[in-house]
Amino acid sequence: MNAPQADHLKAVSDAALGEDEQAAQNYFDQLISEDSRVEPRDWMPEGYRKTLTRQVSQHAHSEIIGMQPEANWITRAPSLKRKAILMAKVQDEAGHGLYLYSAAETLGTPRDVLNQQLLDGKAKYSSIFNYPARTWADIGAIGWLVDGAAICNQVPLCRASYGPYGRAMVRICKEESFHQRQGWEILYELSHGTPEQKQMAQDAVNRFYGPALQMFGPPDEDSPNSKQSMAWNIKRFSNDELRQRFVDMMVPQAEALGLTLPDPDLKWNEERGHYDYGKLDWNEFKSVISGHGPCNVQRMQRRRAAHSEGAWVREAAAEYARKMEAHNAELIGA
Ligand SMILES: [Fe+2]
Ligand SMILES: [Fe+2]
Repeated sequence: MNAPQADHLKAVSDAALGEDEQAAQNYFDQLISEDSRVEPRDWMPEGYRKTLTRQVSQHAHSEIIGMQPEANWITRAPSLKRKAILMAKVQDEAGHGLYLYSAAETLGTPRDVLNQQLLDGKAKYSSIFNYPARTWADIGAIGWLVDGAAICNQVPLCRASYGPYGRAMVRICKEESFHQRQGWEILYELSHGTPEQKQMAQDAVNRFYGPALQMFGPPDEDSPNSKQSMAWNIKRFSNDELRQRFVDMMVPQAEALGLTLPDPDLKWNEERGHYDYGKLDWNEFKSVISGHGPCNVQRMQRRRAAHSEGAWVREAAAEYARKMEAHNAELIGA
């Protein structure tokens, strides 16, 4: 979306507010209570717009930064087939970033502004991508655990009240389930290989399991904005509910892989009908999210370098679009 389009959207929303603020609010409330979709042209409360802009753009940034730990292994994947699969996965993540930036900008903030927030270090992205991928097994653990957690988180977002976000998530989730299967398959082969390969798979799961559980965000009592997001039908389940669902899903999968989840407190609770699990290291989470993880600096340096090295591509694309527009105008005029 360009700046005039963004201004137009804002003007439409301001006009609605000026004419009959209460009627606009009532219509929005009705859409939410009927579990209908809010579309870009509809009036929406500023808080709803801001919350979604932040959430969707952070999600887009996570997809883009998330390409780095895996791209690192494209040239070192153990076979041509593995390279091709990994390359396709990393390319999918770039696509997810693009769908999500497109959804975010329908809320009125242009893509270059959102991108600049990331480059300036003002926008967050998922803390998991600040961990390094040290071995080939880490690529398996990322696919199985990180994409697995993303699926748990994102399937309910397919029903998010904001139309463009929900629709983007439908396609993303389909691709994420393919990603999780490729991770599973890497770990399965390693855990059924030599003792060294099995150990490598176990080490990778040991490193990524805790950070993957933290991807669902802080415990419910420390997540003050969740309630409002649930009232707006953006979120459908709380952080702890989703985390529990993920743990319950992963235990049998780990058993099938022949690997152990690194949590001595993990135990089936007959009464609750769920697995109990141990306390997570929230100090580590806070430290990584505030910039002190093992790879935060490297990730941002790489992103900034890629952005400036890609300037010529953006200029060429803009010039091509300008020429095509002039060409088409000439044809229409002729
Ligand atoms: Fe993705
Ligand atoms: Fe993915």
